[in-house]
This record gives sequence, C-alpha cells and structure tokens, in this order.
Amino acid sequence: MRTKLVVGNWKMHGSLATNLGLLHAVREGVATSAAQVAVCVPYPYLTQALSVLGSSLVAWGAQDVSEHAQGAWTGEVSAAMLADFGCRYVLVGHSERRSCFGDTDAIVAAKYAAALAANLTPILCVGETLAEREAGITGDVVMRQLDAVLSRCGVGSFSRAVVAYEPVWAIGTGRTASPAQAQEVHALIRSHFARENVEIADNLQVLYGGSVKGANAAELFGQPDIDGGLIGGASLVATDFLAICAAAI
Ligand code: 13P
Repeated sequence: MRTKLVVGNWKMHGSLATNLGLLHAVREGVATSAAQVAVCVPYPYLTQALSVLGSSLVAWGAQDVSEHAQGAWTGEVSAAMLADFGCRYVLVGHSERRSCFGDTDAIVAAKYAAALAANLTPILCVGETLAEREAGITGDVVMRQLDAVLSRCGVGSFSRAVVAYEPVWAIGTGRTASPAQAQEVHALIRSHFARENVEIADNLQVLYGGSVKGANAAELFGQPDIDGGLIGGASLVATDFLAICAAAI
C-alpha cells in the first residue's frame, strides 16, 4: 500500500509576512495527517520553511535545482545547497521550466541525477500539452519524458523518486483532467516502470497535478494509481490546501 503524498508548489508567490501564517497553518493543520505533506517554496524562503516546519510532519523542498554540483554558474542553486536547508524534495522538469526556461529532457535528467546525488527526493514532472493530447500522442510524450531519466539514471533510482503527472492544459486553467483521464495516464506510467521492475513500479508514488481543489481531490486521489497531488494555486490558501491534504488518506 502506497502512502499518499500532497505537495504544494507555491511557484513565484509569497513574502516573509504572508508565508508565516501559511506555513504555521499548514504545520498545525497536518499535525495528525495520515498523508505525507510537503511544500516547495521559492529559494529565498527555504530558511523560513526550515525554521517554521523543522521538527514538524511537513517536509519542504525547492521548485528547481541546478544540474551542476558547484562552480561558475551565476544564478544557479545546487542540490547540496538545498540539502543544507533541510529540503527533502525538489521538483524537476515542471512544465513551466520546460516551456519557459528551456529545460530539455536531457537537462531534466541531469537535474534529477544531481538531486539524487545530494540525497534529495526528485519529483519528476511529466505531462503533455493540449496540442499533444489532441494529436493523440499523450502516452508517447510522457514515456519520452520518463525514458530520458530512465536511460540516464536507471529504474532503480525511482525507489528514491516521485513522479508527478501534470497535463499542461490543466495547470492553472481550472480545467482538471477527469479522474478517468488522469487514471489512464497514471496506469500507463506505472506499467512503463513495471516492464523494468515490478516492485519499484508498485511502490512508486505517482502524483496528479493540474487544478486540484478541495472539491475534486478525493475523487482524483481515489483512483487506484493516483497517489496524491502536486498543488499549485490551492496550496497558497491554507484552508484549501488542508482540505486537499484531508482528502488524501
Ligand atoms: P494548479 O494547481 O494551479 O493548476 O498548478 C498545478 C501545478 O503546476 C503544480 O505544480
């Protein structure tokens, strides 16, 4: 039985003042949660997450990481630096990084490898655009994104990783994939891993992301291959985020 995991992705939102209330509310709200809960905050607020969430049930992480370990890479943040601030998780390959910042499949695989090397748990994000879905190539796109990482790091690496399926057309649009649409891709993802290693496939947490709300979370998380969610907008409002966490049991 896989434990459910709910991860908030704050994207580029927040301030020291507003984060404080949100972090405390999440900390208190999940004090008895059966699901695992984490928040991925902007880099400057990692220290605040560490101080508020340290020794709580809520883990934290970052939204991106450099593929490089150290050196003359102005503006980059290494996985070891994230580990220094107590991060457990880091997102790699979020669709906004892929589409707006040039993260190719190869770069995503390198970032995933860098995260693992620093003992972080990478959350590998995959998902198709609307045009790709309409062209009937959702499975091909998602498998290509997975294979870039599988061929670089091997199936064994996924015993220490999480996969998040986020259809690009459902992100921030209010248009959620139906539970059946999401389950279909999640099952495809799991069977792709099962071809290489059944045990890793069975234990792999595969999250759904894209307009998850308190109102649709329980039905999505009730699907057999959906192990929780990656939450954008609704993770910025404590009551909304906690309602989603409560649906993940
Ligand atoms: P929304 O929940 O705002 O659609 O964002 C999803 C997402 O991109 C999480 O990483």
